This record gives sequence, C-alpha cells and structure tokens, in this order.
Amino acid sequence: MLKKIENKAEKEIKKAQTLKELNRVFKDFLGKKGELSLVLRGLKDLSEKEKINRGKKANELKERLKVKFNKKKIEIGSESQFDKYKGIDVTIPSKKPLMGHLSPLTQVKRRIIDIFRGIGFEVVDGPEIENEWYNFDALNIPQDHPARDAWDTFWLKGKKPLLLRTHTSPSQIRYMEKNQPPLRIISLGKGFRHEATDASHEMQFYQVEGLMVGEDVSAANFKAIVKQFFETFFEQNINVRFTPDYFPFTEPSFEVAMSCLICKGKGCSACKKTGWVEIGGAGMVHPNVFKSCKLDINKWQGWAFGFGIDRLTMMKYKINDIRLIHSGDLRFLNQF
Ligand code: PHE
Repeated sequence: MLKKIENKAEKEIKKAQTLKELNRVFKDFLGKKGELSLVLRGLKDLSEKEKINRGKKANELKERLKVKFNKKKIEIGSESQFDKYKGIDVTIPSKKPLMGHLSPLTQVKRRIIDIFRGIGFEVVDGPEIENEWYNFDALNIPQDHPARDAWDTFWLKGKKPLLLRTHTSPSQIRYMEKNQPPLRIISLGKGFRHEATDASHEMQFYQVEGLMVGEDVSAANFKAIVKQFFETFFEQNINVRFTPDYFPFTEPSFEVAMSCLICKGKGCSACKKTGWVEIGGAGMVHPNVFKSCKLDINKWQGWAFGFGIDRLTMMKYKINDIRLIHSGDLRFLNQF
C-alpha cells in the first residue's frame, strides 16, 4: 500500500507545474487528511510489532516525499525567477545617473574665499536691498553729487527710498560701523545697475569687495596682495595694471586691469580689442568714509577694492561673453 502511495505521489509531484499545484499535491498526501497521514494515523489500531515495522516504513516514506517536494519547489521557484529576466540582456551597461555640479560662478566664489581666508581676511555679508546712506551718502556720494550718475540705480517703489545696491561697497560701511580696525574683510555678493548689457556688462553682476584698514596699511600693501591673489587664482604669472581713476570713496583711486587671458593680450571681444580687461576699482579709503563710520581719521588708513567676480570667471574659464554665465544654457554650464 505504501508503495502505491509513493508511486502516485511521485507521479503527481512530477506533473505539478506551479507552486499552487504542488501545494495541492502536498496536501493530498501529507496534509492533515492526506493519504499518507491517514496511514500514519491508522497505525494505532495495529499490533505492537506491525506498528514498529509499518510505522518505520511510513515515516521513511514521509521523509522521502518531503525531500521530493522541496526539490520540486526549488525547481518551480527558480524557473519563475528566470522568467522575470526573459528578454533582458544583463550585459548591457547601465544608465549613468545624471549628476549636477556647482556653477562656474560658485566655484570661483569659493576659490576667492579660500585664497583670502588663507591670508587672514574675514568674509562678511551685506543686504542686496540698501538705503541711500549705505549705498551712497556714507561712501562720500551725497545727494545731487554728479558721481551718483555713474551708478544707474534701480530704485524700489515705496515711501522710503530703497534701492538695489549698485555695488558691494555698502558692506564696508556696515562692517566699520560695528568693528574697530585693524581689520581685513572681503564681502561677496550681487550688485545691480540699470545699464545696457553687452559682452562684458550685465544688469546683475557679482562683486567681491575687499577692505584692509590699519595704522600703516598702504597702497604698496594693496599692490602686493592683489598680485598674489591674481597669481594664486589663475595659477600663472599675471600682468596687473593700475591706472588712475576716480571714486568718491577712495583717494587716490585706481582702475585695476589684467592682461586678457582669452586672447593673451592680442585683443578680442571680451577685452574690447585692447588686450586688457578691467577687473574693478580700488583706492585708499577716503577720510570722509572713515568719518561716516566714526573712525579716527588721524589714526587709521587703508585700502578698498571692488572686483567683478563675473570678470574673474570669464578670464579663468576663457568665456568671451558674460551673458552666458547667467543664461541657464545647459550646453554652456555642462562644460564646467
Ligand atoms: N564700488 C566700486 C564700483 O563698483 C568699486 C570700488 C570699490 C572702487 C572699492 C574703489 C574701492 O564701481
């Protein structure tokens, strides 16, 4: 009888194609009311000797069948596992995930901060919306002063005259109002001017303001630090040019230019065919500026500069049009 059960069970296990079918076969033989289970339960009515003899055989069969069930289960399972991958070529290289990166401008800003921090400068911040005092008056540009025309200003609507700062120089005043020299700071941020745009001018631009004040801080110190900054930033020898200029908040004032790295001084659209690129303005802090901040003009002297970060970025990465930097054009941005 056991032999019959075994043959039948084996046949049905073989026939089963799915796990569901296999489970049903299992139930038919080894479930509570399964054929083999009934045999095992019937043992109690047999004599002691038969009980041992048949019991042993029945239990052995149970174990054998269990092994067969498990084997078949794995077979069915692994087949369906492979079914999932039918038609998929696992040797095809996977898709590269899209990775973002920092814009060239951010990279340049971080580099500038690194370099100036390395020589003891503190980094300070200032608001983009300013009042007339910080943007003009405190910087020795009183109302009706013709120099105000040099900064075509975006005024904000409202009762109080507020404006978008035309340069980062207000941060000099904000810092010196609260801190006594000696001091060394830089301040990076946006400036806004209501101007026509061209290859080297944008209405919104980035500046880095520098300020160093002490008892004997001189223009020679400025020259040395600027030269060192340029050479560290561009990782090469740079021709720096200082020419006389005028700013109400510095005296004397100079324009700072460097030889154009895009055309190597030959002349191109980025340098307006002059071979030189204006990086910004600078000069010795005007006594009236110290007075605005209630600092002793007989004790303190120093220099300040304001450089265009966009200009530095253009030179660093040989970009011949400033407008590309803010264009949001991925074909441009993906190059950095
Ligand atoms: N604020 C001036 C500008 O944006 C630049 C400057 C800064 C000049 C500091 C001298 C000293 O035009």
